Amino acid sequence: MNLILLGPPGAGKGTQAQMIVERYHIPQISTGDILRAAVKEGTDLGKQAKAFMTKGELVPDEVVIGIIDQRLREPDCKTGFILDGFPRTTPQAEALQAILTKIEKSVDHVVNIEVDSEELVRRLTGRRTCKNCGGMFHIHFHPPQKEGVCDRCGGILYQREDDREETIRTRLKEYQKQTAPLIKYYQDKRLLRPIQGVGGQSQIFEQVVRALGTTPA
Ligand code: AP5
Ligand code: MG
Repeated sequence: MNLILLGPPGAGKGTQAQMIVERYHIPQISTGDILRAAVKEGTDLGKQAKAFMTKGELVPDEVVIGIIDQRLREPDCKTGFILDGFPRTTPQAEALQAILTKIEKSVDHVVNIEVDSEELVRRLTGRRTCKNCGGMFHIHFHPPQKEGVCDRCGGILYQREDDREETIRTRLKEYQKQTAPLIKYYQDKRLLRPIQGVGGQSQIFEQVVRALGTTPA
C-alpha cells in the first residue's frame, strides 16, 4: 500500500505515520526527519536546508525531490510506503508522479488530516520528540510518564527548533500558500481521504484504517 499523508504542520502526520508503520509494516518516509538528520550531521544537504527550515520556509523543490527519488528505490519500499510531508507543492506532486511511473508504482490513498490553526499552534508549542527513537509526545495531550524522558526507550526528549510560535506562524502560512492546493489536486484524482484530526490519537487512527479500506494485520 502506497500512501501520502497530507495536512498542515502539527496535524499529526508523524503521529499517525508511526501507528501505520506498526500495524501495516510499511516504512515512514518523512522529508522533515531526513532533512533534520542531515542538518544534525552537517552534510551538504543539511547545510543547504538549514536556513530554510529555521525560518519555517520550504526547502527548494529540487532538493526534496532528489531525496524522494532515491529513497523510493530502496528495497524496503517494495511492499509499500508512507510519504509524510511530501509532496508539499504542485511541482513536487508532479515530480512524484513521474518518479512513480518510472518505477512502476502508484499512490493508493492520500490521507488528509484536517485540524484548525489554533489547535495546531497548541500542539506544536507543546510537542516533544525523543532524540533517540523519534517517539512523539506532548506536554499536555500526550505527556511522557517521566518528564523529559521517552516512555519507549528512555531517551531524552527535546523541542524542535522550528516549534517557536513565530516560526510556526510562518510554517502555517507556507502551508496555506504552497501545500493546501494539493487537496484539490488529489481530490480531482479521486485519491483524497479526509480525516477529522481532532480527538484521541487512536480514534483518529481508526478513521485512517477505515479510509484505507483494509484490515491491518
Ligand atoms: P516536517 O518535519 O514535515 O514538519 P511539518 O509538516 O511542519 O509537520 P510537523 O512534523 O510539525 O507535524 P506533524 O503533522 O507530523 O504532527 P505531529 O505528529 O508531530 O517539516 C519541517 C521542515 O522541513 C519544513 O518546514 C520545511 O522547511 C522542510 N521540509 C520538509 N518536507 C519538505 C518538503 N516536502 N518540501 C520542502 N520543504 C520540506 O504532532 C504534533 C504534536 O501534536 C505532537 O506533540 C503530538 O504528540 C501531538 N498530537 C498528535 N496527534 C494529536 C491528537 N490527536 N491530539 C492532541 N495532540 C496530538
Ligand atoms: Mg512530522
